[in-house]
Amino acid sequence: MDEFSEDVWRGLNSEPKYLQSKYFYDTKGDAIFREIMDCPEYYLTRCELEIFQTQSEDIANTILSRLTEFDLVELGPGDATKSVYLLEAISKQKVSFTYFPIDISENVIDQLKINLPKRIPGITVHGLNGDYLQMLGELKQTSARGKVVLFLGSNIGNIPLKETTDFLKALKACLSPGDLLLMGFDLKKDPEIILAAYNDNAGITRRFNLNLLQRINVTLGADFNLAEFAHQPQYNNETGACESYLVSLKDQRVRIGNLGTVKFRKGEQIFMEVSQKYSAEQMDTFAVEAGFTIVSHFCDSKRWFIDGLWSC
Ligand code: AVJ
Repeated sequence: MDEFSEDVWRGLNSEPKYLQSKYFYDTKGDAIFREIMDCPEYYLTRCELEIFQTQSEDIANTILSRLTEFDLVELGPGDATKSVYLLEAISKQKVSFTYFPIDISENVIDQLKINLPKRIPGITVHGLNGDYLQMLGELKQTSARGKVVLFLGSNIGNIPLKETTDFLKALKACLSPGDLLLMGFDLKKDPEIILAAYNDNAGITRRFNLNLLQRINVTLGADFNLAEFAHQPQYNNETGACESYLVSLKDQRVRIGNLGTVKFRKGEQIFMEVSQKYSAEQMDTFAVEAGFTIVSHFCDSKRWFIDGLWSC
């Protein structure tokens, strides 16, 4: 059995049921996520874009005061809409760097290889298709240059709070002393604003979640009826956890191809994704707990989003 089948089967046979959010990103999911980033409720991308549009020179200068020759690695780059401002700012300073986008989606890498050189002539792009930490570990073996790692968009939010320090420690283990990490964190704010970002009026986020059931239908030959599941996000302001669920609208059985059938009770949830929100203090605590040194912060004008620059 391949990993996708195994993970899906295990998740749907767990109590409570869950699916892994990393599987949202097939070609269709990538496209729906781009729609999410453009929708009026999803403020995260616009806030972080503002940071990169207005402060990339600062960020570049801080990086270049510490490293002059490096690999610039981006975990989950999407179409690099934000990081391209930083890449431009660094390119202007005539420093030598190679850009390594790491993504689980081959499609994302292929698009970057075509599009980035149009925007930044002469840029060297080496795409790595696979798991973040595995690829980062391999890169440590194959290149002796210093690393600047971008982990933007509050992608870290998909990791449960309890596992965050361990993830950051594992990330640090793939790096060397003096390497830099720029991490995007979505900050706690008015709960209604947060919830709306995951429950947009046009129903894009709903389609994004249902697309994973569709992916299971297509790749595993399952027979999910998407109309029998509702999208249900919830935000807990105390814990900062924004969680998305798909809820079965009736008692039903779903056949997952030749793996077997799964029973759903009416009202039963499938946990799809956590998008954790943080306080600025919490973020600094994570840096210290994982053994990083805090170098600097870059915040948007509304103070809704922070990029933290940490050193190994
Ligand atoms: C790409 C993980 C940062 O959690 O905000 C957007 C994904 N899910 N809307 C997030 C997502 C639903 C997004 N990240």
